[in-house]
Amino acid sequence: MKRTAVRRNLVLGGAALQRCIESLRWLRALAPMVTLVVSSALLLSSLGCSKQSKTFVLVAKPTAFGAAIVESSGGKQTAEVGTPLAQPLVVQVNDEQGNAVTGALVIMHGPRGVAFDPVAGVSDSSGQFTTNVSLGTIPGRYQLTASTTSKAGKAVELKIEEIALGYLEMLGSQLNDQYCARCHNQESSPERVSNYDNLAVKPHPFTEGDTLNKMSDADLAAIISHGGAALNKSPLMPPYGYTLSKSEMQALIAYIRMVSDPPYGAPGIVYAQK
Ligand code: HEC
Repeated sequence: MKRTAVRRNLVLGGAALQRCIESLRWLRALAPMVTLVVSSALLLSSLGCSKQSKTFVLVAKPTAFGAAIVESSGGKQTAEVGTPLAQPLVVQVNDEQGNAVTGALVIMHGPRGVAFDPVAGVSDSSGQFTTNVSLGTIPGRYQLTASTTSKAGKAVELKIEEIALGYLEMLGSQLNDQYCARCHNQESSPERVSNYDNLAVKPHPFTEGDTLNKMSDADLAAIISHGGAALNKSPLMPPYGYTLSKSEMQALIAYIRMVSDPPYGAPGIVYAQK
């Protein structure tokens, strides 16, 4: 009697085992990619999903740990609210000596509405992790965090800032491309050759908060409308009072305030909240 019971268990065990083997085979097919399930709670916050939904993201298992995480490229970009940034964000994991670490886990976090693709992964053979970022629907500055874990289990973090432009700032950005960038931006592009090097008096890029934050909105409106002479500055800065409407100038000012670095401290500039 005892024997049969045991046997029956074994048979049942056999069926369960079979199912297990099948799922293992399925997992093996995805290996070595899939080995680790990152805690859903962590990811939920970064994905901005509702608390009820269960999201599991499968990423490669870390095979190494870093001591620092640094930005390679893709920070300080601007994009229209809710749209992907033009360039991917690339971060690098380094060891204590500053050498690139391959196989370290990197997890991204951001305020509500930010989406990362992918949200986590391991650093590649040059120590880098690359992700595509879409900002939320609220205009403002978005602080993103890339984190990795040190050998001692300590979280090592890097903060990165990106800017989401609302309707007004988008309009300002387009007007800037059309009228201002050829002098205020030193870099030439295939569509626009910079005039910066030909100017005897050098204008500032609009990101240069140290200069532009000291100017009031009224000063900005005056120099844009009446040219450099209005503020006893160089007449190389042309007047736009006959070219641009009042609301277009307001859009340019909104844009200048939004992209300045360090940030412009006036009320109304929002930091997207967690
Ligand atoms: C032909 C070149 C040129 C163009 C185009 C131009 N600017 Fe300027 N801008 C200048 C120069 C040169 C100065 C520096 C004047 C000085 O410091 O005496 C200046 C200065 C300024 C300043 C004061 C801060 C600074 O950079 O020193 C603001 C604000 C400004 N420009 C806004 C604009 C806006 C907005 C547009 C487009 C609508 C524009 N500019 C287009 C040449 C230009």
